[in-house]
Amino acid sequence: MTRYEILLKNLPNEPKVWLVTGVAGFIGSNLLETLLKLDQHVVGLDSFITGHQRNLDEVKQSVDEKQWLRFKFFNGDIRNLDVCHEVCSGVDYVLHQAALGSVPRSLNDPITTSQTNIDGFLNMLVAARDAKVKSFTYAASSSTYGDHPGLPKVEDVIGSPLSPYAVTKYVNELYADVFARCYDFNTIGLRYFNVFGKRQDPDGAYAAVIPKWAASMIKGETIFINGDGETSRDFCFIENTVQANLLAATAVDQAVRNQIYNVAVSGRTTLNTLFYALKKELAANGVDYLKDPIYRDFRAGDVRHSQADIGKIKTSLGYSPAYLIEHGVAKAMPWYVTFLK
Ligand SMILES: NC(=O)c1ccc[n+]([C@@H]2O[C@H](COP(=O)([O-])OP(=O)(O)OC[C@H]3O[C@@H](n4cnc5c(N)ncnc54)[C@H](O)[C@@H]3O)[C@@H](O)[C@H]2O)c1
Repeated sequence: MTRYEILLKNLPNEPKVWLVTGVAGFIGSNLLETLLKLDQHVVGLDSFITGHQRNLDEVKQSVDEKQWLRFKFFNGDIRNLDVCHEVCSGVDYVLHQAALGSVPRSLNDPITTSQTNIDGFLNMLVAARDAKVKSFTYAASSSTYGDHPGLPKVEDVIGSPLSPYAVTKYVNELYADVFARCYDFNTIGLRYFNVFGKRQDPDGAYAAVIPKWAASMIKGETIFINGDGETSRDFCFIENTVQANLLAATAVDQAVRNQIYNVAVSGRTTLNTLFYALKKELAANGVDYLKDPIYRDFRAGDVRHSQADIGKIKTSLGYSPAYLIEHGVAKAMPWYVTFLK
């Protein structure tokens, strides 16, 4: 059995209290769903700035009544330290997801991105430290690799940040490291690489490519590819990301804590390949998309290629990604077709 399989078997018999910040968002709501289905107690915090009540409603539909009653939701902002203290009280494990994502958003509004992702992050660290939680797992980002050209990306080798967003995510890692050194506090940073799956927001200027394209293709709209389409990403299905969070939070070996880990599958998919993969899977779900994509300029702040080395997280945390991109797209597509119409 893998460490994750053992964890899934044991957790329902040893319920813990988990705090998920950003719980109404894409990754947060998927963490919530998994934890409730494992009979855990979950405290959730969200300000709904990019998250949605509909994500919480959908989780409610997917669990039984008893499980839903184990969820306590706070509508609040991580930029408010009192709120952070309130939600951390009595918590065993923190899964900190709340942040303003998106490179273009950070270029348009670096101040709000910084206030949320740096000041808010520091508030959460302080509150979690004061509450003496067992561990603090947080959403870091592959954007921290910045302009370093090396592939695949290895945790210790980073370049200079290419966007304000990347700066904030790197500062998170620095603060977490300092809290480990100065306060004997347990943190684990998970550098996510292009996560995708159900409940990822398809709307707005800052939407991620997979839900955005899936929604556009379902509606028969034109797909625009930034650049020549050979830009590549290590797309990671949400269930792999959930696995990484649960493994990180519950890791007890001191040697594997206070570390940064890549969370991905170590694949490399170009935007051109992605376009045809989505088209194929849509057809398998009864939606024929007949238009060719239109190529336009590269987007500012984007890195050209991104692919993770996942050796460290496999060895240290027992991570074993169950879904490659094609499996994830196949699993997510029925949801896209139902909800992104
Ligand atoms: N999705 C990805 O591919 C990806 C990649 C790298 C890192 N990340 C990180 O993962 C985390 C979750 O991302 P996501 O894709 O689920 O995004 P999301 O926008 O769907 O979720 C973020 C949630 O945080 C909430 N939030 C934002 N600011 C807040 C504040 N000040 N107070 C309280 N709640 C607030 C939002 O309302 C939203 O529900 C973020 O930290 C993001 O930077 C995501």
